[in-house]
Amino acid sequence: MYTLGISCYYHDSAAALLKNGDVIAAVEEERFSRKKFDDGFPKLAIDWCLKETQVKPNEIDIIAFYDKPILKFERLLDNYLAVSPRGLSSFLDVIPKWIHKRLWIKNEIKKHLKGFTGEIIFPEHHISHSAYAFFTSPFNESAILNVDGVGEWTTTSFGIAQNNSIKLLNDIRWPHSLGLFYSAFTYFLGFKVNEGEYKLMGLSSYGKPKFYDEILSEIIDVKNDGSIHLNMKYFAFTYDKVMTNEKFSNLFGIEPRMPSISPSQIHFDIGASAQKILEDVLLKMASHIHEKTKMKNLCLGGGVALNGVANYRLLKESPFENIHIPPSPGDAGSAIGCAQFAYYIHKKYNRIIEMAHSKRIHKNIYLGPSFSDDDITKFLDTNKIEYEKLSRDALIEKTAKIISDGKVVGWFQGKMEWGPRALGNRSILADPRKSEMKDILNEKIKHRESFRPFAPSVLEEFTSDYFDIDIPSPYMLMVAKVKQPEKIPAVTHVDGTARLQTVSKESNSLYYDLINQFYKITGVPIIVNTSMNVMGEPIVNTPSHAYNMILKTDMDCLVLGNNLIDK
Ligand SMILES: [Fe+2]
Repeated sequence: MYTLGISCYYHDSAAALLKNGDVIAAVEEERFSRKKFDDGFPKLAIDWCLKETQVKPNEIDIIAFYDKPILKFERLLDNYLAVSPRGLSSFLDVIPKWIHKRLWIKNEIKKHLKGFTGEIIFPEHHISHSAYAFFTSPFNESAILNVDGVGEWTTTSFGIAQNNSIKLLNDIRWPHSLGLFYSAFTYFLGFKVNEGEYKLMGLSSYGKPKFYDEILSEIIDVKNDGSIHLNMKYFAFTYDKVMTNEKFSNLFGIEPRMPSISPSQIHFDIGASAQKILEDVLLKMASHIHEKTKMKNLCLGGGVALNGVANYRLLKESPFENIHIPPSPGDAGSAIGCAQFAYYIHKKYNRIIEMAHSKRIHKNIYLGPSFSDDDITKFLDTNKIEYEKLSRDALIEKTAKIISDGKVVGWFQGKMEWGPRALGNRSILADPRKSEMKDILNEKIKHRESFRPFAPSVLEEFTSDYFDIDIPSPYMLMVAKVKQPEKIPAVTHVDGTARLQTVSKESNSLYYDLINQFYKITGVPIIVNTSMNVMGEPIVNTPSHAYNMILKTDMDCLVLGNNLIDK
């Protein structure tokens, strides 16, 4: 049985194809369209999923869309009526898109998938988040917490998942949203909403939460059970294209930061305050949910679950014994979630949990396009690019040596990762032992803000030697204290933490062997891993995109499959 999941029209469109409940192909539209965070109908992603798996539209049994567009439209109309006449320009911008396109998603799907005669279903936004969080987990039963900007009406929800059922027990509704609270600070501190939230997380480490009390007394009311109420006097997102208003600026005594102006201490302190409130609210929510559900497991869904600093505090301080966060908890991940809902809940098919954690991790990540050695060689030869073809062992030895010599290497292997992070198949790798490596990476390739840290990939068995964490962090969604910062300064953030990826032999054997070889040379089982993309562009998809990195940046070498290309 084939189920196709689609997520689009908000941010980060994506498609996923499942066969008997297993994801056999999944990819974000931006990787093909090359438009970062592309929110259009994911034509190219759908086409690739079908071509890759040789499945025809008439073979698909169910197509699931990740939320209920009509309810979302109802919320938009309701909101515009409530804030009218403010919000007119936003209304004129948004509503035509809905009337002409978004409400007709069924037609769009049928138009694109000629021959499809199956059912189209629309699970609720937070149900799709829940399904993805739960069905990627190793748990047979779990509490669920979803926190995002907003779905149809819901901004936070919690419930219980057992076997094939998910029941959401309570929610918080628009406009009171912890995700939008954080996005408001993202905007105010000079970053793009829906894109710059992780930059705010990085920046907050430089500050002290000096505005914590003020924000709590003025902007957000937090109850003991974690429920929140935003003071809408300070926010503009219900009636304008910006997130905050003059009152918000007056409270802090500064204007929203322009991206061209470097952040100063007050920005760091405001960021640290917003981050601490986000963490504290999540902890309160988790305690409340634990009390209500009496579960020992917690699955987290929604974009807020990308906040690795908060996730780590939940792991350390919440009453739950186990926490699972899927690799792409935001809306793109819901392309898988809604298809899982169709198979396991709507159709009630049995769920077989993959208990081998490395295999499960592999199945959750490496779901995108891959290129055979023939494809790669053909590309190199056609374009008259010089390269050295190596055996697997020679490739690993040589690449590890090059990295240990301080060079920056592009590493393009196997299937592209699903989700926002490069996890060893479309990565740029470097030596974590040199503190200057952060500047080198920024100067040569990434050109990104200096306050943003680079992440380490560590051999799983060495995790707790180097980091204060004793569970795997395979999707780079935990920010933990570094135990030996002097050994790995390039990946240690200003506050002594790192957003680590743990790598096991079964989850990615080639990447594991490479880090292991680096360990044999240097005694450090860790490599710097940052995504292979030029600033402002999506992660590379094809050998041609990867080769462009060599042309456009000062990357020293590129490894395409078994082929080493020197600059
Ligand atoms: Fe969402």
